[in-house]
Amino acid sequence: MADPFDVVVIGGGPGGYIAAIRCAQLGMKTACIDDWTRAGGKPAPGGTCTNVGCIPSKALLQSSENYEHAGHAFADHGIEVKGLALDVKKMQARKDKVVAQNNDGILYLFKKNRIAFFHGHGAFAGRDGDAWKIRVDGASPAELVAARVIVATGSKPRALPLIPFDDDRVLDNAGALAIPAVPKRLGVVGAGVIGLEMGSVWRRLGASVTVLEALPAFLGAADEAVAKEARKLFARQGLAIETGVNITAVTLGKADVAVAWTDAAGKAQAASFDKLIVAIGRVPNTDGLGAEAVGLALDERGFVAVDGECRTSLPNVWAIGDVVRGPMLAHKAEEEGVAVAERMAGQHGHVDFNTIPWVIYTSPEIAWVGQTEQQLKAAGVAYRAGSFPFSANGRARALGDTSGFVKILADAATDRILGVHVIGPFASELISEGVVAMEFGASAEDIARICHAHPSLAEAMKEAALGVDGRMLNL
Ligand code: FAD
Ligand code: NAI
Repeated sequence: MADPFDVVVIGGGPGGYIAAIRCAQLGMKTACIDDWTRAGGKPAPGGTCTNVGCIPSKALLQSSENYEHAGHAFADHGIEVKGLALDVKKMQARKDKVVAQNNDGILYLFKKNRIAFFHGHGAFAGRDGDAWKIRVDGASPAELVAARVIVATGSKPRALPLIPFDDDRVLDNAGALAIPAVPKRLGVVGAGVIGLEMGSVWRRLGASVTVLEALPAFLGAADEAVAKEARKLFARQGLAIETGVNITAVTLGKADVAVAWTDAAGKAQAASFDKLIVAIGRVPNTDGLGAEAVGLALDERGFVAVDGECRTSLPNVWAIGDVVRGPMLAHKAEEEGVAVAERMAGQHGHVDFNTIPWVIYTSPEIAWVGQTEQQLKAAGVAYRAGSFPFSANGRARALGDTSGFVKILADAATDRILGVHVIGPFASELISEGVVAMEFGASAEDIARICHAHPSLAEAMKEAALGVDGRMLNL
């Protein structure tokens, strides 16, 4: 048996591979095990995020947005496009290349940081004194001994109880990212983040898209004003969104899939689609981990149970990312990975869930950090709001993308920023200013007094901050 490792990380997604890098940086002898395999049997570290999540979805969102711009937005700029054509195969091949570049980048980072990488499935195989034995099955079989273990095994898509995924007509996120030709009629179950992003991709490429959402409210986690604006803009783009839907039957036909539901008014409805994407949330992945054998406690929903510092029920075993409670976001998984590595090294890693940004990469993009107006109202917090529309921002006008606004919510007594909400161009980039402000305990007045470059979209952030005090300059 080889020398024991200080740390073995099970799972090489954004949580696991970042945790491994930080452990190695802190001088720990580190191994990472990941079972994702690409064509040809090569390892594909990076997890859901790199292989079938964040990265490929953003590649297709960019490609489809380019196509839509060339077809619709360029004319306004005096650019005439003739013979515009779509090559979905090439678009998919580009996306696959972007993914492979990221896989290779992570393999390089393992080498650079002297992390032993094992390609295969890791499972707890009992104790070796105070240490843990971890068995690796697959391409690089091994039995490892680890003083400490980080479980970062991620999540997997949740299927409708009515019908399993079949990789052909009823698609999960992996299937939604790999559709080989534009479907004429696309159904999407769930108006969450995946449903809206993937629905946008295929609508831009020419599909007629219907999104069926169970909850009565649209984007219930977002600020109500943002959700309202988003729904209006998505409808204008042609994304048909129905809320308050109860799906009663899903039936595979010869070449289609028939869906029956009752609508918000209780009326029976039905439609037939060429493809159906089911995006109704994800469940933690503890498959074949040997959790039960070693007594690793799971909570009632199947997540690995952890305390506020990501410690599990077992000594020297930690868990991070999608497999534990909290938002299922790549950057949350990464931050937990860094924090756990630092705690192991006797430092004081910290993750503040209140300052984790959320981004939906639709057009316009939607991003927020901190509290929504409805949350502040429910908690009885007195606040002031400032809101500035991109239609009054010079850079947005020059871009030709003036939809949406920035809204800043600040404590009525102290002016401390409690939430920042953006719907509009590059919201994903703009939100960082809100995150920094909140992390530094900034007031709206602080942002209002900071010099922002002109012309820039970030000026909308400054104006919204000025708006908290009722003194916007450009509106
Ligand atoms: P994962 O990324 O799921 O990685 C876990 C890894 O461990 C996988 O490779 C898995 O195969 C492997 N594994 C599991 N069990 C074992 C085992 N026993 N042995 C060895 N290996 C094992 N988040 C964002 O922040 N921004 C986005 O834009 C975004 N877009 C998304 C788009 C889609 C379509 C989807 C589905 C998700 C998206 N997410 C996004 C969410 C993000 O992908 C996840 O939050 C993130 O990947 C979680 O990281 P993780 O390391 O916890 O788990
Ligand atoms: P989600 O939780 O965002 O949305 C699921 C939606 O499906 C919800 O609105 C829910 O009410 C609805 N739903 C549940 N059951 C239903 C049913 N039977 N019929 C109709 N609707 C139903 O989950 P999603 O979109 O699957 O994404 C999974 C995770 O991936 C999310 O937690 C998200 O954090 C992450 N993700 C993040 C992205 C980003 O950061 N940009 C992009 C894509 C995914």
